[in-house]
Amino acid sequence: MKNVLVTGGAGYIGSHTVLALVDYGYNPIIVDNFSNASPKVIDRLEKLANRPIKCYSIDCCDKKALEQVFVENEIFGVIHFAGYKAVGESVQKPLMYYQNNLISLLNVVEVMHEHNCLNLIFSSSATVYGAPKSVPIYEDFPLHVTNPYGRTKLMIEEILTDYVKANPEFKVALLRYFNPIGAHESGLIGEDPNGIPNNLMPYITQVCIGKLDHVRVFGNDYPTKDGTGVRDYVHVMDLAVGHSLTLKKMENCSENLLIYNLGTGKGSSVLDVIHEMEKAVGHSIKYEIVARRAGDIAECYANCDKAYQELGFKAKYNLFDMCKSSWNFQQKNPNGIK
Ligand code: UFG
Repeated sequence: MKNVLVTGGAGYIGSHTVLALVDYGYNPIIVDNFSNASPKVIDRLEKLANRPIKCYSIDCCDKKALEQVFVENEIFGVIHFAGYKAVGESVQKPLMYYQNNLISLLNVVEVMHEHNCLNLIFSSSATVYGAPKSVPIYEDFPLHVTNPYGRTKLMIEEILTDYVKANPEFKVALLRYFNPIGAHESGLIGEDPNGIPNNLMPYITQVCIGKLDHVRVFGNDYPTKDGTGVRDYVHVMDLAVGHSLTLKKMENCSENLLIYNLGTGKGSSVLDVIHEMEKAVGHSIKYEIVARRAGDIAECYANCDKAYQELGFKAKYNLFDMCKSSWNFQQKNPNGIK
């Protein structure tokens, strides 16, 4: 079994990807500093995978510690999730974002280079498209970012593009996620934000469980079907499988820079999500229309043909499945994974 290092493997997308890697016959090894995830996630992953999962509690900014992981294990590839990801916080603390996200990436690539590990998947984001000129968004659309978080994603894409030009034996896949929501069907792992959630789905589930009073809908005057923002919500388990398919592709392809959108190709409005969630929980959800949130765009959804044609990636879960599994996770973990 090939060892795949998953940085940020205890986090939301990382933890689901660990399970998908096991399903696809890889041996995931987790690196996480647990700054935004609970160590309990590891026990739960072991339970779900029904086998031990090696985990190093280290920070990717600590190059020596990272090197030791490569000394102790022969690593076939790395999936790099570790990084700060809150847009608003990145505007307040830009240096913290540049420091953490860029240094950890540079360390990962340098250590991979020293150990002749040649396959890297980078966890990028649809945020690199900024406000797109049209939807759906294709991979060759112009890139433009509007906040430090997004800029770290774009800078890393550019750094890796330069790196593969100089090192053609090294393969990189840039996976641009749209809006991951949902949770593993067990309800044992899921999105577990600290404090009041910034993102729509965890906010809604916390309203449903009674921790927050009502959903604030940020604007209903966008040029969309019902005036609220439209996004491409994709089930985190579909996204997780997308990583395994990408690794399989990397094992057999000659290209050394792969770029894919991972979404469903379908746009849903904020009100669509609230109404679908009402079906999943079986009662109405209180919401209020408030002002637009600074920096938000009207519509963002993917064209996913490239990932389908080249990886065989096709999202199998719909919005109802996503709502149901998010709600299941919230109910089983009313106070998060503590
Ligand atoms: N929204 C609300 N109320 C809330 C939260 C969000 O109405 O309480 C709306 C937003 O205005 C937007 C939609 O719900 O229309 C989705 O908002 P999220 O905050 O859940 O997600 P974003 O699309 O803003 O951002 C997400 C990730 C980013 C990533 C981006 C990529 O959080 O990290 O997708 O497109 F960069």
